[in-house]
Amino acid sequence: MVSVLTEWSSLIVRWLHVVAGIAWIGSSFYFIHLDLSLKPRAGLPQGVQGDAWQVHGGGFYHMVKYLIAPARMPDELTWFKWEAYTTWLSGFALLVIVYYLGAELYLIDKSVLDLTAPTAAAVAFASLVLAWLVYEALCRSALGRHEVALALVGYVFLVALTYGFTHVFSGRGAFTQIGALIGTIMVANVFLIVIPNQKKTVAALLAGKAPNPAWGEEAKQRSVHNNYLTLPVVFLMIANHYPLIFATRFNWLIVAIVLAIGPVIRHFFNSRHEGKGSPWWTWGVAAAGMVAVAWLSGAGPAEIGPRADRLDIKAAHNAILARCSMCHRNEPVWPGVHAPPKGVILDDPDNIRRHAHLIEINAVRSNAMPPGNVTAMTAQERQILAAWLAAGAPSQ
Ligand code: HEC
Repeated sequence: MVSVLTEWSSLIVRWLHVVAGIAWIGSSFYFIHLDLSLKPRAGLPQGVQGDAWQVHGGGFYHMVKYLIAPARMPDELTWFKWEAYTTWLSGFALLVIVYYLGAELYLIDKSVLDLTAPTAAAVAFASLVLAWLVYEALCRSALGRHEVALALVGYVFLVALTYGFTHVFSGRGAFTQIGALIGTIMVANVFLIVIPNQKKTVAALLAGKAPNPAWGEEAKQRSVHNNYLTLPVVFLMIANHYPLIFATRFNWLIVAIVLAIGPVIRHFFNSRHEGKGSPWWTWGVAAAGMVAVAWLSGAGPAEIGPRADRLDIKAAHNAILARCSMCHRNEPVWPGVHAPPKGVILDDPDNIRRHAHLIEINAVRSNAMPPGNVTAMTAQERQILAAWLAAGAPSQ
């Protein structure tokens, strides 16, 4: 019963998380585009930075941006904040359901570091908070006034954290952890800086006072960070479903590359929307980066040496039966696993043969399976499987 409830709560929370994320990223991309496309022209009301015309859904929109208060504050003002808050709340709930409650399979890899589930969850959560505090301190320090320097330090900080996480958690756990960490920083930017500063500005305007321009500058700085972090976060969140990316030797380097490519791609769109031309070189950089990612993902897990030089079908089957089939069978015998995960059944030679491609991706070219290597599959067994795969995965 509990397992059915966990499954359903995971599905519903994931649904909410993805939808909220779409709404958040969608509105933030929209406003960045709008902001950049506003053009000043004569005849606009006082305090207006520029205007833009848009067409959507059968009607025309005339958008105008006031830098200072309009002559009269509107009675109704739409705020954009719940998209971000809901994304974080649902994301954190999902983190608890999948990674903290299921730490043994998803967060921990005892061959990386022998943690208990509560310790792993506590370390993961504490590092979210700590990293955010460090980021906050960096932004507020003297460095915060130098955009490029701050970006470089922030980049090194995130790569160092990623490297650290891959030495504490499983590959998959590390990816989700760094993704959740960046996501947390982004939502904290909205919750603690952007929205409060906007509230202060509105309050000052209503009171007939001049708002402090520093509020706007600070909010702008954080919006820019969020803009550049969006693509890497989405990559990290989906990459934890791709074993070649998260469960191979250079997983942390892959994250480092993606953390660089994401902002470069955003730069293309920012520049284009601002009417400053299309820096096509960015796509060259992104493509080169992705080729590097693909190449690195082929490096396999660290511990697997060359494949066995002799084909031994029986030994290959035995490796699967001994290390995989306790979960991957019609009625799993592993505690907490109640149905064959992802419908993958590995209990006889035919079923094993049928899943040869998935076995290759999950257990030979990566060490995503067994999760956290809970059944202690050896490097030698993986080498035997490699030889079996190279021979065309015969069933007898
Ligand atoms: C402790 C239980 C357990 C063991 C042992 C185990 N798996 Fe899995 N397996 C899982 C779970 C849980 C998932 C689902 C992961 C997810 O939600 O992404 C899974 C998913 C898979 C998938 C599907 C991946 C996909 O892309 O859909 C394959 C293939 C797989 N395992 C192969 C193996 C192989 C091969 C072994 C042995 C080397 C193995 N598993 C050992 C629990 C296990």
